Amino acid sequence: MPETITITDDRTGKQVTVPITNGVFPASAVRELDPSLFIYDPAYMQTAACRSSITYLDGDNGILRYRGYPIEQLAEKSTFLEVAYLLLNGDLPNAEQLKQWTLDVTHHTFVHENMRKRFLDGFHYDAHPMGMFVSSMAALGTFYPEAKNVLDKGSRDQQILRLIAKTPTIAAMCHRFSVGLPFVYPDNDISFPANFLNMMWKIGDYEVDPRLERAMDVLFILHADHEQNCGTTSMRVVGSSQADPYSAAAAAASALYGPLHGGANEAVVRMLADIGSIENVPAFIEDVKSGKAGSRLMGFGHRVYKNYDPRARIIKEVAYGVFEVTGKNPLLDIALKLEEAALNDDYFKSRKLYPNVDFYSGLIYQAMGFPAEMFTVLFAIPRTVGWLAHWQEMLTDKEQKISRPRQWYTGVDERDYVPLGSR
Ligand code: ACO
Repeated sequence: MPETITITDDRTGKQVTVPITNGVFPASAVRELDPSLFIYDPAYMQTAACRSSITYLDGDNGILRYRGYPIEQLAEKSTFLEVAYLLLNGDLPNAEQLKQWTLDVTHHTFVHENMRKRFLDGFHYDAHPMGMFVSSMAALGTFYPEAKNVLDKGSRDQQILRLIAKTPTIAAMCHRFSVGLPFVYPDNDISFPANFLNMMWKIGDYEVDPRLERAMDVLFILHADHEQNCGTTSMRVVGSSQADPYSAAAAAASALYGPLHGGANEAVVRMLADIGSIENVPAFIEDVKSGKAGSRLMGFGHRVYKNYDPRARIIKEVAYGVFEVTGKNPLLDIALKLEEAALNDDYFKSRKLYPNVDFYSGLIYQAMGFPAEMFTVLFAIPRTVGWLAHWQEMLTDKEQKISRPRQWYTGVDERDYVPLGSR
Protein backbone atom coordinates (compact mmCIF):
# COMPACT_ATOMS: atom_id res chain seq x y z
CA MET A 1 0.00 0.00 0.00
CA PRO A 2 1.47 3.41 -0.94
CA GLU A 3 2.40 5.60 2.02
CA THR A 4 1.10 8.71 0.29
CA ILE A 5 -2.00 10.82 0.27
CA THR A 6 -3.52 12.56 -2.73
CA ILE A 7 -5.66 15.62 -2.24
CA THR A 8 -7.91 16.76 -5.05
CA ASP A 9 -9.30 20.27 -5.34
CA ASP A 10 -12.71 19.55 -6.84
CA ARG A 11 -13.04 23.17 -7.96
CA THR A 12 -10.07 22.94 -10.31
CA GLY A 13 -9.37 19.23 -10.58
CA LYS A 14 -5.79 19.87 -9.40
CA GLN A 15 -4.22 17.03 -7.43
CA VAL A 16 -1.26 16.96 -5.08
CA THR A 17 0.32 13.77 -3.75
CA VAL A 18 2.58 13.87 -0.67
CA PRO A 19 4.17 11.19 1.53
CA ILE A 20 2.72 10.08 4.83
CA THR A 21 5.48 9.58 7.41
CA ASN A 22 4.62 8.11 10.80
CA GLY A 23 0.99 9.09 10.28
CA VAL A 24 1.79 12.69 9.36
CA PHE A 25 1.63 14.46 6.01
CA PRO A 26 2.86 18.01 5.35
CA ALA A 27 0.36 20.85 5.14
CA SER A 28 2.51 22.19 2.32
CA ALA A 29 0.34 19.92 0.17
CA VAL A 30 -2.54 22.31 0.75
CA ARG A 31 -0.31 25.31 0.04
CA GLU A 32 0.76 23.71 -3.21
CA LEU A 33 -2.84 23.03 -4.16
CA ASP A 34 -3.97 26.59 -3.50
CA PRO A 35 -2.01 29.02 -1.28
CA SER A 36 -5.23 30.80 -0.31
CA LEU A 37 -6.70 27.59 1.15
CA PHE A 38 -6.51 26.91 4.90
CA ILE A 39 -7.35 24.02 7.21
CA TYR A 40 -9.88 24.65 9.97
CA ASP A 41 -8.65 22.76 13.03
CA PRO A 42 -9.88 24.25 16.33
CA ALA A 43 -7.73 23.27 19.33
CA TYR A 44 -5.18 21.77 16.88
CA MET A 45 -6.90 18.41 17.24
CA GLN A 46 -5.43 17.10 13.98
CA THR A 47 -2.36 19.31 13.65
CA ALA A 48 1.29 18.44 14.29
CA ALA A 49 2.87 21.89 14.65
CA CYS A 50 6.48 20.73 14.89
CA ARG A 51 8.87 17.84 14.61
CA SER A 52 10.17 16.85 18.02
CA SER A 53 12.60 14.22 19.26
CA ILE A 54 12.05 14.77 22.99
CA THR A 55 9.03 12.78 24.14
CA TYR A 56 7.18 9.91 22.50
CA LEU A 57 3.56 9.46 23.46
CA ASP A 58 1.25 6.71 22.24
CA GLY A 59 -2.09 7.53 23.78
CA ASP A 60 -3.90 4.44 22.49
CA ASN A 61 -1.44 2.08 24.12
CA GLY A 62 -0.56 4.16 27.17
CA ILE A 63 3.11 4.54 26.27
CA LEU A 64 5.31 7.46 27.36
CA ARG A 65 9.04 7.69 26.66
CA TYR A 66 11.54 10.48 27.24
CA ARG A 67 14.21 10.38 24.52
CA GLY A 68 13.33 6.72 23.98
CA TYR A 69 13.47 5.63 27.63
CA PRO A 70 10.18 4.24 29.04
CA ILE A 71 8.81 6.44 31.80
CA GLU A 72 8.48 3.37 34.04
CA GLN A 73 12.26 2.75 33.92
CA LEU A 74 13.14 6.38 34.51
CA ALA A 75 10.73 6.60 37.46
CA GLU A 76 12.23 3.49 39.00
CA LYS A 77 15.93 4.01 38.34
CA SER A 78 16.72 7.62 37.54
CA THR A 79 16.69 10.96 39.33
CA PHE A 80 15.00 14.17 38.30
CA LEU A 81 18.23 16.01 37.56
CA GLU A 82 19.47 13.13 35.42
CA VAL A 83 16.14 13.14 33.55
CA ALA A 84 16.40 16.91 33.11
CA TYR A 85 19.82 16.45 31.51
CA LEU A 86 18.40 13.70 29.30
CA LEU A 87 15.45 15.80 28.12
CA LEU A 88 17.64 18.81 27.37
CA ASN A 89 20.61 17.02 25.81
CA GLY A 90 19.12 13.93 24.21
CA ASP A 91 21.18 11.31 26.09
CA LEU A 92 21.75 10.26 29.66
CA PRO A 93 24.83 11.90 31.18
CA ASN A 94 27.95 9.92 32.07
CA ALA A 95 29.21 10.18 35.66
CA GLU A 96 31.37 13.24 34.97
CA GLN A 97 28.61 15.05 33.05
CA LEU A 98 26.07 14.32 35.78
CA LYS A 99 28.44 15.61 38.45
CA GLN A 100 29.05 18.84 36.53
CA TRP A 101 25.35 19.29 35.69
CA THR A 102 24.31 18.78 39.31
CA LEU A 103 26.97 21.25 40.44
CA ASP A 104 25.88 23.80 37.84
CA VAL A 105 22.18 23.59 38.75
CA THR A 106 22.99 23.68 42.46
CA HIS A 107 24.98 26.88 42.05
CA HIS A 108 22.05 28.78 40.63
CA THR A 109 19.45 28.05 43.31
CA PHE A 110 19.56 31.47 44.98
CA VAL A 111 17.40 34.31 43.70
CA HIS A 112 18.18 38.01 43.89
CA GLU A 113 17.16 39.46 47.25
CA ASN A 114 14.95 42.00 45.49
CA MET A 115 12.80 39.17 44.12
CA ARG A 116 11.90 38.34 47.67
CA LYS A 117 11.98 41.68 49.46
CA ARG A 118 10.48 43.92 46.84
CA PHE A 119 8.65 41.75 44.35
CA LEU A 120 7.05 38.96 46.37
CA ASP A 121 6.37 41.21 49.33
CA GLY A 122 4.15 43.29 47.08
CA PHE A 123 1.53 40.56 46.74
CA HIS A 124 -1.68 40.63 48.73
CA TYR A 125 -1.47 38.39 51.79
CA ASP A 126 -3.88 35.80 50.35
CA ALA A 127 -2.51 35.77 46.77
CA HIS A 128 -2.77 32.37 45.08
CA PRO A 129 0.74 30.80 45.02
CA MET A 130 0.35 29.86 41.35
CA GLY A 131 -0.51 33.45 40.43
CA MET A 132 2.59 34.53 42.34
CA PHE A 133 4.67 31.86 40.64
CA VAL A 134 3.54 32.87 37.14
CA SER A 135 4.38 36.52 37.78
CA SER A 136 7.69 35.65 39.44
CA MET A 137 8.83 33.69 36.39
CA ALA A 138 8.38 36.77 34.21
CA ALA A 139 9.88 39.08 36.86
CA LEU A 140 12.98 36.90 37.13
CA GLY A 141 13.83 37.72 33.51
CA THR A 142 14.23 41.40 34.39
CA PHE A 143 17.33 40.49 36.41
CA TYR A 144 19.02 38.98 33.34
CA PRO A 145 18.87 41.37 30.36
CA GLU A 146 21.28 39.09 28.48
CA ALA A 147 18.48 36.50 28.39
CA LYS A 148 17.15 38.34 25.36
CA ASN A 149 20.02 36.85 23.31
CA VAL A 150 17.96 33.77 22.58
CA LEU A 151 19.89 32.96 19.43
CA ASP A 152 23.11 32.63 21.40
CA LYS A 153 23.62 29.10 22.71
CA GLY A 154 25.78 30.25 25.62
CA SER A 155 23.07 32.61 26.83
CA ARG A 156 20.37 29.98 26.33
CA ASP A 157 22.30 27.41 28.39
CA GLN A 158 22.81 29.96 31.16
CA GLN A 159 19.08 30.79 31.37
CA ILE A 160 18.17 27.10 31.29
CA LEU A 161 20.35 26.47 34.34
CA ARG A 162 18.94 29.48 36.15
CA LEU A 163 15.33 28.60 35.47
CA ILE A 164 15.66 24.96 36.50
CA ALA A 165 17.58 25.88 39.65
CA LYS A 166 15.44 28.80 40.73
CA THR A 167 11.92 27.48 40.19
CA PRO A 168 11.94 25.39 43.42
CA THR A 169 13.23 28.41 45.34
CA ILE A 170 10.50 30.64 43.94
CA ALA A 171 7.86 27.96 44.50
CA ALA A 172 8.81 27.57 48.15
CA MET A 173 8.95 31.35 48.58
CA CYS A 174 5.41 31.67 47.19
CA HIS A 175 4.18 29.13 49.72
CA ARG A 176 5.99 30.63 52.70
CA PHE A 177 4.77 34.09 51.80
CA SER A 178 1.18 32.87 51.58
CA VAL A 179 1.33 31.32 55.06
CA GLY A 180 3.38 34.14 56.57
CA LEU A 181 6.51 32.13 57.30
CA PRO A 182 10.05 33.48 56.90
CA PHE A 183 11.81 32.30 53.74
CA VAL A 184 14.39 29.53 53.92
CA TYR A 185 17.49 29.91 51.74
CA PRO A 186 18.50 27.03 49.44
CA ASP A 187 20.77 24.39 50.94
CA ASN A 188 23.24 23.41 48.23
CA ASP A 189 24.56 20.41 50.16
CA ILE A 190 21.42 18.34 49.71
CA SER A 191 19.66 16.89 46.67
CA PHE A 192 17.35 18.86 44.37
CA PRO A 193 14.10 17.41 45.84
CA ALA A 194 15.44 17.50 49.42
CA ASN A 195 16.38 21.15 49.02
CA PHE A 196 12.88 21.94 47.80
CA LEU A 197 11.23 20.10 50.71
CA ASN A 198 13.61 21.81 53.11
CA MET A 199 12.75 25.27 51.76
CA MET A 200 9.06 24.39 52.04
CA TRP A 201 8.92 22.92 55.50
CA LYS A 202 11.96 23.87 57.53
CA ILE A 203 11.01 25.23 60.91
CA GLY A 204 13.50 24.45 63.67
CA ASP A 205 15.40 21.21 63.04
CA TYR A 206 13.35 19.79 60.20
CA GLU A 207 14.94 16.76 58.49
CA VAL A 208 13.81 15.54 55.10
CA ASP A 209 12.48 11.97 55.21
CA PRO A 210 14.39 10.09 52.45
CA ARG A 211 11.21 8.27 51.40
CA LEU A 212 9.43 11.57 50.79
CA GLU A 213 12.54 12.94 49.08
CA ARG A 214 12.45 10.01 46.65
CA ALA A 215 8.67 10.33 46.16
CA MET A 216 9.11 14.02 45.31
CA ASP A 217 11.88 13.15 42.85
CA VAL A 218 9.69 10.53 41.14
CA LEU A 219 6.80 12.99 40.90
CA PHE A 220 9.18 15.50 39.35
CA ILE A 221 10.32 12.87 36.81
CA LEU A 222 6.74 12.00 35.86
CA HIS A 223 5.81 15.64 35.30
CA ALA A 224 8.98 16.73 33.49
CA ASP A 225 7.61 16.59 29.95
CA HIS A 226 4.55 15.59 28.01
CA GLU A 227 5.19 16.76 24.43
CA GLN A 228 2.87 19.36 22.88
CA ASN A 229 0.42 19.97 25.74
CA CYS A 230 -1.22 23.36 26.26
CA GLY A 231 1.60 24.75 28.44
CA THR A 232 4.43 23.53 26.23
CA THR A 233 2.66 24.80 23.13
CA SER A 234 2.39 28.19 24.85
CA MET A 235 6.14 28.08 25.53
CA ARG A 236 6.82 27.36 21.88
CA VAL A 237 4.37 29.96 20.58
CA VAL A 238 5.65 32.76 22.81
CA GLY A 239 9.26 31.63 22.37
CA SER A 240 8.80 31.71 18.59
CA SER A 241 8.68 35.52 18.74
CA GLN A 242 12.17 35.29 20.34
CA ALA A 243 10.86 36.57 23.66
CA ASP A 244 13.22 35.75 26.54
CA PRO A 245 12.68 32.31 28.15
CA TYR A 246 11.44 33.78 31.45
CA SER A 247 8.56 35.53 29.69
CA ALA A 248 7.85 32.43 27.60
CA ALA A 249 7.93 30.20 30.71
CA ALA A 250 5.55 32.60 32.47
CA ALA A 251 3.14 32.12 29.55
CA ALA A 252 3.53 28.35 29.76
CA ALA A 253 2.92 28.44 33.51
CA SER A 254 -0.21 30.54 32.93
CA ALA A 255 -1.53 27.86 30.60
CA LEU A 256 -0.74 25.21 33.18
CA TYR A 257 -2.71 27.16 35.80
CA GLY A 258 -6.06 26.34 34.12
CA PRO A 259 -8.26 23.63 35.67
CA LEU A 260 -8.39 21.67 32.41
CA HIS A 261 -4.59 21.38 32.47
CA GLY A 262 -2.25 21.49 35.49
CA GLY A 263 -4.94 22.95 37.72
CA ALA A 264 -6.80 19.63 37.59
CA ASN A 265 -5.02 18.08 40.59
CA GLU A 266 -6.28 20.90 42.80
CA ALA A 267 -9.76 20.41 41.37
CA VAL A 268 -9.58 16.64 42.01
CA VAL A 269 -8.96 17.06 45.72
CA ARG A 270 -11.75 19.62 46.01
CA MET A 271 -14.06 17.26 44.10
CA LEU A 272 -13.20 14.32 46.39
CA ALA A 273 -13.77 16.46 49.47
CA ASP A 274 -17.14 17.58 48.07
CA ILE A 275 -18.18 13.98 47.42
CA GLY A 276 -17.40 13.39 51.09
CA SER A 277 -17.86 9.62 51.37
CA ILE A 278 -17.84 6.49 49.22
CA GLU A 279 -21.63 6.15 49.56
CA ASN A 280 -22.01 9.34 47.53
CA VAL A 281 -19.88 8.09 44.62
CA PRO A 282 -22.66 6.48 42.51
CA ALA A 283 -24.82 9.61 42.73
CA PHE A 284 -21.85 11.80 41.81
CA ILE A 285 -21.09 9.64 38.77
CA GLU A 286 -24.70 10.01 37.63
CA ASP A 287 -24.49 13.79 38.15
CA VAL A 288 -21.34 14.00 36.01
CA LYS A 289 -22.98 11.98 33.25
CA SER A 290 -26.12 14.08 33.24
CA GLY A 291 -24.16 17.32 33.50
CA LYS A 292 -25.81 18.06 36.86
CA ALA A 293 -22.54 17.98 38.77
CA GLY A 294 -21.68 21.17 36.89
CA SER A 295 -18.30 19.73 36.20
CA ARG A 296 -16.45 16.80 34.74
CA LEU A 297 -14.92 13.94 36.62
CA MET A 298 -11.70 15.81 37.30
CA GLY A 299 -8.49 13.81 36.86
CA PHE A 300 -10.17 11.71 34.16
CA GLY A 301 -9.80 11.93 30.41
CA HIS A 302 -7.01 13.21 28.24
CA ARG A 303 -6.68 14.67 24.77
CA VAL A 304 -4.11 12.06 23.80
CA TYR A 305 -4.44 9.11 26.20
CA LYS A 306 -7.33 6.88 25.28
CA ASN A 307 -6.01 4.31 27.72
CA TYR A 308 -4.71 4.36 31.30
CA ASP A 309 -2.17 7.21 31.62
CA PRO A 310 1.09 5.36 32.49
CA ARG A 311 2.00 8.18 34.88
CA ALA A 312 -1.24 7.64 36.81
CA ARG A 313 -0.29 3.99 37.35
CA ILE A 314 3.13 4.94 38.76
CA ILE A 315 1.68 7.73 40.88
CA LYS A 316 -0.80 5.33 42.43
CA GLU A 317 2.14 3.17 43.58
CA VAL A 318 4.04 6.22 44.86
CA ALA A 319 0.93 7.20 46.82
CA TYR A 320 0.98 4.02 48.85
CA GLY A 321 4.68 4.58 49.68
CA VAL A 322 3.99 8.13 50.80
CA PHE A 323 1.00 7.09 52.92
CA GLU A 324 3.28 4.69 54.82
CA VAL A 325 5.15 7.77 56.05
CA THR A 326 2.32 10.26 56.34
CA GLY A 327 -0.65 8.05 57.11
CA LYS A 328 -3.36 7.35 54.53
CA ASN A 329 -5.11 10.29 52.94
CA PRO A 330 -8.77 9.80 53.93
CA LEU A 331 -9.81 10.84 50.42
CA LEU A 332 -8.02 7.81 48.94
CA ASP A 333 -10.97 5.47 49.49
CA ILE A 334 -13.28 7.85 47.67
CA ALA A 335 -10.77 8.13 44.80
CA LEU A 336 -10.45 4.35 44.51
CA LYS A 337 -14.23 3.91 44.52
CA LEU A 338 -14.64 6.66 41.97
CA GLU A 339 -12.02 5.11 39.71
CA GLU A 340 -13.64 1.69 39.98
CA ALA A 341 -17.11 3.09 39.29
CA ALA A 342 -15.94 5.12 36.28
CA LEU A 343 -13.88 2.30 34.77
CA ASN A 344 -16.97 0.08 34.86
CA ASP A 345 -19.39 2.64 33.51
CA ASP A 346 -20.34 2.71 29.83
CA TYR A 347 -20.28 6.51 29.67
CA PHE A 348 -16.58 6.60 30.59
CA LYS A 349 -15.70 3.36 28.81
CA SER A 350 -17.24 4.42 25.49
CA ARG A 351 -15.42 7.77 25.62
CA LYS A 352 -12.17 6.08 26.64
CA LEU A 353 -11.88 8.18 29.80
CA TYR A 354 -9.23 6.87 32.19
CA PRO A 355 -7.42 8.41 35.18
CA ASN A 356 -4.78 10.89 34.13
CA VAL A 357 -1.64 12.04 35.96
CA ASP A 358 -3.64 14.41 38.13
CA PHE A 359 -6.09 11.92 39.59
CA TYR A 360 -3.78 10.65 42.35
CA SER A 361 -1.05 13.32 42.50
CA GLY A 362 -3.15 15.72 44.56
CA LEU A 363 -3.77 13.03 47.18
CA ILE A 364 -0.02 12.54 47.61
CA TYR A 365 0.66 16.25 47.78
CA GLN A 366 -2.08 16.70 50.35
CA ALA A 367 -0.75 13.84 52.48
CA MET A 368 2.71 15.45 52.34
CA GLY A 369 1.20 18.64 53.75
CA PHE A 370 1.03 20.78 50.61
CA PRO A 371 -2.03 23.05 50.49
CA ALA A 372 -4.22 22.55 47.39
CA GLU A 373 -3.17 25.96 46.03
CA MET A 374 0.41 24.66 45.73
CA PHE A 375 -0.43 21.61 43.60
CA THR A 376 -0.07 23.31 40.23
CA VAL A 377 3.12 25.00 41.40
CA LEU A 378 4.49 21.52 42.17
CA PHE A 379 3.67 20.56 38.60
CA ALA A 380 5.34 23.68 37.19
CA ILE A 381 8.72 23.03 38.88
CA PRO A 382 9.61 19.91 36.85
CA ARG A 383 7.63 20.95 33.76
CA THR A 384 9.96 23.93 33.44
CA VAL A 385 12.52 21.41 32.16
CA GLY A 386 10.15 20.19 29.45
CA TRP A 387 9.28 23.75 28.46
CA LEU A 388 12.97 24.61 28.13
CA ALA A 389 13.79 21.45 26.18
CA HIS A 390 11.05 22.35 23.67
CA TRP A 391 12.06 26.00 23.65
CA GLN A 392 15.64 25.23 22.60
CA GLU A 393 14.47 22.58 20.13
CA MET A 394 12.13 25.14 18.56
CA LEU A 395 14.78 27.87 18.36
CA THR A 396 17.26 25.57 16.66
CA ASP A 397 14.72 24.10 14.22
CA LYS A 398 15.25 25.65 10.79
CA GLU A 399 11.66 24.86 9.79
CA GLN A 400 10.19 26.95 12.60
CA LYS A 401 9.12 30.58 12.26
CA ILE A 402 7.08 32.90 14.43
CA SER A 403 3.82 31.10 15.28
CA ARG A 404 0.99 32.70 13.45
CA PRO A 405 -2.07 30.58 12.66
CA ARG A 406 -4.79 31.75 10.31
CA GLN A 407 -8.45 32.24 11.08
CA TRP A 408 -11.77 31.50 9.44
CA TYR A 409 -13.45 34.90 9.49
CA THR A 410 -17.14 34.58 10.36
CA GLY A 411 -17.98 38.23 11.07
CA VAL A 412 -20.08 40.64 9.02
CA ASP A 413 -19.02 41.97 5.63
CA GLU A 414 -17.96 45.57 5.17
CA ARG A 415 -20.58 48.10 6.31
CA ASP A 416 -20.67 51.87 6.74
CA TYR A 417 -20.31 53.58 10.09
CA VAL A 418 -23.68 54.75 11.46
CA PRO A 419 -23.59 57.97 13.52
CA LEU A 420 -24.78 57.70 17.14
CA GLY A 421 -28.06 59.56 16.59
CA SER A 422 -29.10 57.24 13.74
CA ARG A 423 -28.59 53.88 15.55
N1 ACO B 1 -15.64 13.74 32.89
C1 ACO B 1 -16.77 13.52 32.18
N2 ACO B 1 -16.84 13.56 30.85
C2 ACO B 1 -15.73 13.84 30.17
C3 ACO B 1 -14.49 14.07 30.82
C4 ACO B 1 -14.49 14.01 32.24
N3 ACO B 1 -13.37 14.21 32.91
N4 ACO B 1 -13.54 14.31 29.90
C5 ACO B 1 -14.14 14.24 28.72
N5 ACO B 1 -15.46 13.95 28.87
C6 ACO B 1 -16.43 13.70 27.81
C7 ACO B 1 -16.87 14.99 27.14
O1 ACO B 1 -18.01 15.55 27.76
C8 ACO B 1 -17.15 14.52 25.74
O2 ACO B 1 -18.37 13.84 25.74
P1 ACO B 1 -19.37 14.00 24.46
O3 ACO B 1 -18.63 13.36 23.34
O4 ACO B 1 -20.60 13.29 24.89
O5 ACO B 1 -19.56 15.47 24.26
C9 ACO B 1 -16.07 13.46 25.50
O6 ACO B 1 -15.76 12.95 26.80
C10 ACO B 1 -14.80 13.99 24.85
O7 ACO B 1 -14.34 15.08 25.63
P2 ACO B 1 -13.59 16.34 25.02
O8 ACO B 1 -13.84 17.50 25.89
O9 ACO B 1 -13.90 16.46 23.57
O10 ACO B 1 -12.09 15.86 25.15
P3 ACO B 1 -10.81 16.78 25.10
O11 ACO B 1 -9.73 15.99 24.50
O12 ACO B 1 -11.12 18.10 24.47
O13 ACO B 1 -10.53 17.08 26.64
C11 ACO B 1 -9.64 17.03 28.81
C12 ACO B 1 -9.48 16.53 27.37
C13 ACO B 1 -9.64 18.57 28.81
C14 ACO B 1 -8.41 16.57 29.61
C15 ACO B 1 -10.94 16.47 29.39
O14 ACO B 1 -10.90 15.06 29.41
C16 ACO B 1 -11.21 17.01 30.80
O15 ACO B 1 -11.79 18.09 30.94
N6 ACO B 1 -10.81 16.24 31.87
C17 ACO B 1 -10.99 16.72 33.23
C18 ACO B 1 -9.90 17.72 33.58
C19 ACO B 1 -8.56 17.04 33.78
O16 ACO B 1 -8.44 16.05 34.48
N7 ACO B 1 -7.54 17.65 33.17
C20 ACO B 1 -6.15 17.18 33.33
C21 ACO B 1 -5.65 16.64 32.02
S1 ACO B 1 -4.03 16.02 32.24
C22 ACO B 1 -3.06 17.39 32.24
O17 ACO B 1 -3.36 18.41 31.68
C23 ACO B 1 -1.86 17.33 33.00
